[in-house]
Amino acid sequence: MEIFVPKTETEKQKAVAGEIRERFRRENRRPLVFARTYGCQQNEHDTEKMLGLALMCGYEKTGDPANADLIIVNTCAIREHAEKRTFSCTGAYKKLKEQNRELIILFCGCMAQETGIAEKIKRSYPYIDAVVGTDSNHRLPEIIQNVMQTRKRAYLVNSLPHSDFGVIAEDIPALRESEYKAWVSVMYGCNNYCTYCIVPYVRGRERSRRYEDVVAEVKQLVENGYKDITLLGQNVNSYSGGVSFARLLEKCASFGGEYRLRFMTSHPKDASNELMDVMAANPNICKHFHLPVQSGSDKVLEAMNRRYTRNTYLEKVAYLREKIPDVTLTSDIICGFPGETEEDFEQTLSLISQVRFDMLYTFIYSPRPGTSAAARGDQIPYEEKLRRFEKLSALQLGITLERNGRHTGKVLRVLSEGKKTARSEGGTLVATDTDIPAGTFADAYITAAHPANLEAKIIRP
Ligand code: 5AD
Ligand code: SF4
Repeated sequence: MEIFVPKTETEKQKAVAGEIRERFRRENRRPLVFARTYGCQQNEHDTEKMLGLALMCGYEKTGDPANADLIIVNTCAIREHAEKRTFSCTGAYKKLKEQNRELIILFCGCMAQETGIAEKIKRSYPYIDAVVGTDSNHRLPEIIQNVMQTRKRAYLVNSLPHSDFGVIAEDIPALRESEYKAWVSVMYGCNNYCTYCIVPYVRGRERSRRYEDVVAEVKQLVENGYKDITLLGQNVNSYSGGVSFARLLEKCASFGGEYRLRFMTSHPKDASNELMDVMAANPNICKHFHLPVQSGSDKVLEAMNRRYTRNTYLEKVAYLREKIPDVTLTSDIICGFPGETEEDFEQTLSLISQVRFDMLYTFIYSPRPGTSAAARGDQIPYEEKLRRFEKLSALQLGITLERNGRHTGKVLRVLSEGKKTARSEGGTLVATDTDIPAGTFADAYITAAHPANLEAKIIRP
């Protein structure tokens, strides 16, 4: 199956965008688009691309849904909590539709692709004009035109089984949120089937952009003055667009001038020594590794289908720290996976004490429809999951404080985000004494450390 959307298709969408723009011009309208994004960076970037297409159609961006002529809701399905929030927020748009019959509301992103959601919207959310699965984002102009011309509701959702879908559309102009920070997708989808995770079902099969396309995009961004570029993928280590991910990263870090290159997310089973060596050798690559471990218990790791053990994980961390002693290491943990005993949980606590991550993203296990873990009979009661979550968070708080403390009295290179805030190479927030323009680098002397940020004096702007 061809995964690349043919050029003729993207050209067609651009032509349709031209027709819409022309219609607005004839009607003397200056239409506005509002986007609301839930979920991960991948989704943030998808929104940037959909906004880019909306701009081609003649829309201008607004921060206020009440003024909008087009509302894009880009949804996340990773945990039930995100879904509930999405539906309650989307409910507020009903009123807007009553006030403005011309308003177009699109329901996009991961939830759109989830089993049963399109049906639910059909039944209970009549003011939503179209449900757009992630494979159809590039068809935004056509979708908008259809709604305008017919006022018929549309459901562009892939019905192929499991992850047997997924395309790549190149040449979609992104309306980037920032002038110095950029996301670049290198691959989409996931084939890992961790037993708790809905991603393979909603994002489809793993597929990689071509090496040349990624490199050209990064080069252009660097030339345009971008200073903080993140290569994105659900599992960047299995990048297969012509070279290994390590070589891709190396190439992307090789352009002139000072800039930062990051990547998200790595699966521990595929995080290679080659990748760690490239990180160690290259000044433009941030010395930050996000390596989600999920659990410290081998039994739970196996039940999650993670395909590494506590020991092999620890070996990777040891290699990384040997190569880059000051590396910033962050991770994800799930509390209360089905069948997780107190002993398993203790194993996670001990792993955290042993590794001493700079930061942890801790999640309460949330059963997702269609995943095998959700069907297990040994679900943990919510109160117990919460207790574990709180215990873990308290343990990590002390470790983060200690890890942040190691910077006190030292000089760190920071990238300003404006308003007296900046980011260290490891991604830690730094409150600075002077205001320096967003997107510029400076040397900062760290004067204090807190769990959530550092404080610093700018010594060399
Ligand atoms: N419940 C809780 N957390 C989850 N994650 C993924 N699926 C679930 C789920 N069903 C977490 C994992 C992953 C992060 C992005 O979200 O820790 O690394
Ligand atoms: Fe959420 Fe995963 Fe979709 Fe990102 S890819 S928006 S985390 S479900």
